[in-house]
Amino acid sequence: MPKPFNQLVVADMRKVYSDKWCVVEKDELPLSVADMDLPIASEISTALIKHVRDGTLMYSAKQGIPGLKEVVANRLAVRYGWAIGAEQIQPLSATVPGLFLSVSAVTKPGEGVMVQTPVYTPFFEAIEYTGRRIVPVPLSQPGYRVNREALEEGWTPEVKALLVCNPHNPVGRVFTESEIETLANFALEKKLWIISDELHADLVLDGEHRPLANVSSELAQKTVTLYGPTKAFNFAGLKISFAITANRKLSEKMKLRARGSAEAPNTLAQTAALAAYTKADPWLINTLNYLRKNRKRIGEIVAETPDLEWIPPEGTFLAWLDFRKLGLDDPAQNLQELTGLVLERGSRFGKLGEGRGFARLNFGTSQPILDAALDRLQDATAIIRKQV
Ligand SMILES: Cc1ncc(COP(=O)(O)O)c(C=O)c1O
Repeated sequence: MPKPFNQLVVADMRKVYSDKWCVVEKDELPLSVADMDLPIASEISTALIKHVRDGTLMYSAKQGIPGLKEVVANRLAVRYGWAIGAEQIQPLSATVPGLFLSVSAVTKPGEGVMVQTPVYTPFFEAIEYTGRRIVPVPLSQPGYRVNREALEEGWTPEVKALLVCNPHNPVGRVFTESEIETLANFALEKKLWIISDELHADLVLDGEHRPLANVSSELAQKTVTLYGPTKAFNFAGLKISFAITANRKLSEKMKLRARGSAEAPNTLAQTAALAAYTKADPWLINTLNYLRKNRKRIGEIVAETPDLEWIPPEGTFLAWLDFRKLGLDDPAQNLQELTGLVLERGSRFGKLGEGRGFARLNFGTSQPILDAALDRLQDATAIIRKQV
């Protein structure tokens, strides 16, 4: 039986071999890599244990185990009012390979791909490593909003696609209906393909998630959406995702090109996904409430810490903290050196200096661990204020 999540402390997590926890130095406390410290829903572990006990780990079903794609389609219809056929869904080994696959399917080498920055680092990699050109367009201030003028300014005829992150990593925005319409109209007018990474869709804390492809059937023909259970149900280590497009030609192309990069998800990931989507929503509701409490706690600390600012995230479990008033370029480095608190460096998420002075804190953790981290954060900022 895992320990109750709310009682997890740093010493418990040190025994976990995850990317985030197994590399930390003795006294460090990582709130970095974007997965949550909480154990998976018992419905998911039961399904996984049963599958392993049954003893079959043969090649996984390329088009998904029976019912899986139908469950995804049904979920998108019920939660987001987005009606799609199961045949539009391509199961993938993970979302990042899906980013690479879709960028290379809709554009040619040398063409431009727009991204709204700051943004999740693999967006840049998927463009750059496939020989395309990154066209960064900063989200508008205040509040990291979608802005038509900024998009127009960044556009050139060589731009062929727009890569969207919604809900947004790292700033936690959930784009409003009018922002989604702005993106849709812009893309249609400029004849752009859209790749919309909606992996955090089930992690909305305020407001509503609106799938971009659902704006119109015309737009659906030009869009690949990436969606999956691993963030919300916290099994990123198993790896699975879904690429969704109404465009049949593109879908065929992506299936052919998936070979060697974004192939079928493994059997256990498929089993976990089916269990998550059919049985674990009550767990997700509790998790979202827990995350809201953590977000509130961060808000209290930010409010009482001079010169620290943020915009509370509307979705995700990521807080984009603004240390610029403290005069810091790379606050994550200062925090790590001063107190051993490990956050993600803001500079990783920008191309034009948009991440300078910021750090991303992952609050998908227990309250005791979050409190320990926030203590370190306050200690560090107090030391820094004395130094300046
Ligand atoms: C927006 C976004 N897309 C994709 C990923 C990674 O997804 P996967 O583990 O399925 O490759 C992340 C992980 O942080 C993410 O935040």
